[in-house]
Amino acid sequence: MTDSNTTSRRGFLTGAAGLLAATGVAQATPAEAKSKTGAPPAPPASAAKGTAEPFWGPHQSGILTPAQTHTYFAAFDITAERREDVIAMLTRWTEATARMTAGRTARDLPADLADTTADSADVLELPPSRLTLTFGFGATLFVKDGKDRFGLAAHRPEALVDMPVFPGDQLVEAMTGGDISVQACADDPQVAFHAVRQLARIAYDTAAIRWVQSGFLGGFDAKETPRNLMGFKDGTGNPPVNDPEEMRKFVWVGTEGPDWMRGGSYLVVRRSRMALEHWDRMKVSFQEQTFGRRKYSGAPLTGHKETDALDLDATDGDGNPVLPENSHVRLATAASNDGAKILRRSYSYNDGANVVAERWPPWRQGLEYDAGLIFVCYQKDPRTGFIPMFEKLSRFDMMNQFVTNVGSGLFACPEGVTKGGFIGQRLFEKA
Ligand code: HEM
Repeated sequence: MTDSNTTSRRGFLTGAAGLLAATGVAQATPAEAKSKTGAPPAPPASAAKGTAEPFWGPHQSGILTPAQTHTYFAAFDITAERREDVIAMLTRWTEATARMTAGRTARDLPADLADTTADSADVLELPPSRLTLTFGFGATLFVKDGKDRFGLAAHRPEALVDMPVFPGDQLVEAMTGGDISVQACADDPQVAFHAVRQLARIAYDTAAIRWVQSGFLGGFDAKETPRNLMGFKDGTGNPPVNDPEEMRKFVWVGTEGPDWMRGGSYLVVRRSRMALEHWDRMKVSFQEQTFGRRKYSGAPLTGHKETDALDLDATDGDGNPVLPENSHVRLATAASNDGAKILRRSYSYNDGANVVAERWPPWRQGLEYDAGLIFVCYQKDPRTGFIPMFEKLSRFDMMNQFVTNVGSGLFACPEGVTKGGFIGQRLFEKA
C-alpha cells in the first residue's frame, strides 16, 4: 500500500509557489526578499493559505522558509528491528509529505485506500497552508544502548554529538531526544497536526511517537519581526536567509561533513518554559536590561532602530557598558562567540497553567503557566554554534532566572529530496 498513488491532483499547484513546487526549486520568496531583518518573517496578514511550499529540492524546506504561523513538532523512536522497515517507512513518509505539502488530500488517494487506514481526512477542505515537513536523525538512530541496530553507526556524523547537560537544565526524559524528528509548520494548526498524525499512522509497527510539542506565532505582518511571549521581537539578529553566502557559512553543511549531510543542517530544539507570572511583574526597563534591547522598538540599548548594530563598546557616564555584561544579546552575539551565528526559527507554546495556590505566597497568585518558547535553531555544526553559545548563556544570561529548559533535542537534518528518492536516502545507501 502506498500513500502516493494519486489518480488526480487538486488545483493548488498554481501560481508562483506552485510553479516552484512543481520544478522542485527552492528559492527566496518575496516575503524573504522584503524582510527588513534576518529573521524568517511571518507570512503577510492576508496569509496566503492557499499556497504550497516546495518540497523537492537541494535543501529541506522549513529551514529558510518564511515562518508559518503554527508548528507541530514530533520526535519518533524506531520500534522496528530491521533496516528495510526503516527505509520503507521513510519512503512512504516521503510520498506522503510530497502529497500533503502540495495540498493533495484524502480525496486524491486511490479508491483502494479509501478505508480506515487511509488519510484521516480532517483537512479535506483546507488548502496547503504553506505546509512544510522537516526531518532529522537523532544520535540514537545510529547507536542506541551501545547497539548498531540499523548498520548506521559508522556513518554517524561527528557533529551529531551527545548533547551536553547545561547548568540549570531540568530536562524531562519524556520531552528529550528521539531517533527521528519531524517538524511540521503551516499557516493552519490543523494542517500541521494532521501532517504529523498521518506520518504516525504510516509509521505504525515501525516507529512510535516519543514526544510532541505544538507552537504558534502571532499573525504579524511580513515586514515585522514576530514577538515572543516575553513581549520582545525575536529573530532580529538572525543572519539574513536571503544571503546565500551567510547560509553557506552558518547554516548548510558543506564538504566538511559526511556527503549524506551536505546541503543539510543541524537542528537544536529546546522546550524553554518561561516564568511568565514572574516576568510580568518586572519593570519594562529591567526587562530591557535583561535582553539588551528596547521592548517596543526592538532597538539595541545602544541604538535607535531595530536594525541598528549592537555597540558592545558603548559606555554610560559612569563608564559602565550600556549593554549589560550579562544581557542576552551581548552574550549571544557573534562578536562574543568567535564569529559564530545560528539561524533561529522559534515558536511560542502555551500548554495551560498549574494552579498551586496552597504552596505559594500570595504574590505568586498560585499560578504557573506552562508556556514559553520552542527554541529552534539551525546551524552548520552545533559544536561551533549552539553548544559553545549556550555553555556561556546558561551560566551568565540574566534571562535564565525566567527560563527553565525542560526538553531538548539535536537532530541531523539531511539534504533535500529529489523526485524518486526518499528522505535520508544517501545515508541508507552508504550503510
Ligand atoms: C527562552 C529562550 C530565549 C528567548 C526568549 C530569547 C529571546 C531573544 C531575543 C528577544 C533576542 C533579541 C532579538 C533578536 O535578535 O532576535 C534574542 C537574540 C538572540 N538570541 Fe535568544 N532567546 C532565547 C534563547 C536563546 C538561546 C538558547 C540561544 C542560543 C544558544 C539564543 C541565541 C540568540 C542569538 C544568537 C541572538 C542574536 C544576538 C545578536 O543580536 O547578534 N537565544 N533572543
